Amino acid sequence: MNVMDLDRTYVVPSYRRYPLELVCGRGSEVTDRDGRVYIDLGSGLAVNTLGFSDPAWCEAVTAQLTTLQHSSNLYFTKPAAQLAEQLCLRSGMKKVFFSNSGAEANECAIKAARKYAELHYPGQRDLIVTLRNSFHGRTLATLAATGQSSFHQEFLPLTPGFESCEPSIEHVCNIVEKGQVAAFLIEIVQGEGGVVVLDPAFVRQLASLAAENDILLIADEVQTGAGRTGKLFAYMHTGITPDIVSTAKGLSGGLPLGATLFGEKTADVLGPGSHGSTFGGNPVAAAGALHVLSRLDDDLLHEVESKSAYIRDTLSSARGIIAVTGIGLMIGIKTVRPAALVIDACREAGVIVLQAKDRIRLLPALNIPWPLLKKAIRVVADAADETGKAASGV
Ligand SMILES: Cc1ncc(COP(=O)(O)O)c(C=O)c1O
Repeated sequence: MNVMDLDRTYVVPSYRRYPLELVCGRGSEVTDRDGRVYIDLGSGLAVNTLGFSDPAWCEAVTAQLTTLQHSSNLYFTKPAAQLAEQLCLRSGMKKVFFSNSGAEANECAIKAARKYAELHYPGQRDLIVTLRNSFHGRTLATLAATGQSSFHQEFLPLTPGFESCEPSIEHVCNIVEKGQVAAFLIEIVQGEGGVVVLDPAFVRQLASLAAENDILLIADEVQTGAGRTGKLFAYMHTGITPDIVSTAKGLSGGLPLGATLFGEKTADVLGPGSHGSTFGGNPVAAAGALHVLSRLDDDLLHEVESKSAYIRDTLSSARGIIAVTGIGLMIGIKTVRPAALVIDACREAGVIVLQAKDRIRLLPALNIPWPLLKKAIRVVADAADETGKAASGV
């Protein structure tokens, strides 16, 4: 059996896979089983921060792999300790818990918020407020936190303790008045929701409301972290300081790693025995993340901004494109043609792009070379053209 048939026979069909078998990648290009090369504007799904098989990243990961590939979390290891230090130094947060994925990073944040509320307001604050159109993961608690009912329908009853509301300070205030709110959980840019950027004024109002009422503010930076928006974390564009930050995806540049960062108020909430993860903070994944962070310097972050400006300028004036949203290299594109058709046309022309609701979503590697980026964006513009002009092949 070929790989696609094997997969269709034995793997749970929970993903609507495209008819493409990827075999190997280098930089921002990936090759299928027939040897056809594609420009990847998705970084997997915001994971391959430095592209495929970046040589220096591979070296850092391989060196760790051949030294100590795993240790129980009952012992100290250098990569995780150094990574926690780097994350704290670069964010001003105080402590880090490591896990393996975005959903787990959020689960940890939720547990800490519940424990904080129980310690300070016993029996009173059992509610975490999230926003409509948000996405926080697929585990039972993060599913309940997700503000899109389409994800809930087949998995009721939802885990209690979550309420999602419109991103309006009046709505949030109405809920807060009941005195039950432990935390707000927000994405600064709603990625799965279609690359919707929250109004920074609303984010600041929310942060003030949180501070005034000792409600924790949790920033879900699973998709927006690791320099994706042109800063290490997207909240850094808004001037707020969250109490908890969750992150994953691009953190290790391609290996599974989640991190939950805790600020002053929450640093010591999760004491011994309160939380754990067998693989969390794995030395190889941590070495990958240390390398990613070492590359996320001002030069690379400025490059993210100039590439973002190029994409926006080029696409906002292109035929068939209604709107371009997002920050940095996290871009949403609303097209006249249905997104699925545009995505297929791009793939047929040799460019991989993603979908988020009814939008095209671009999440390229932060170091995608300019010539590849320009070539790929021309393909996207052609594919979006509602006159059906054939997308130019790469
Ligand atoms: C904002 C956000 N939070 C959480 C998650 C869940 O992450 P994971 O799939 O690694 O569990 C995602 C995944 O897309 C996400 O975008």
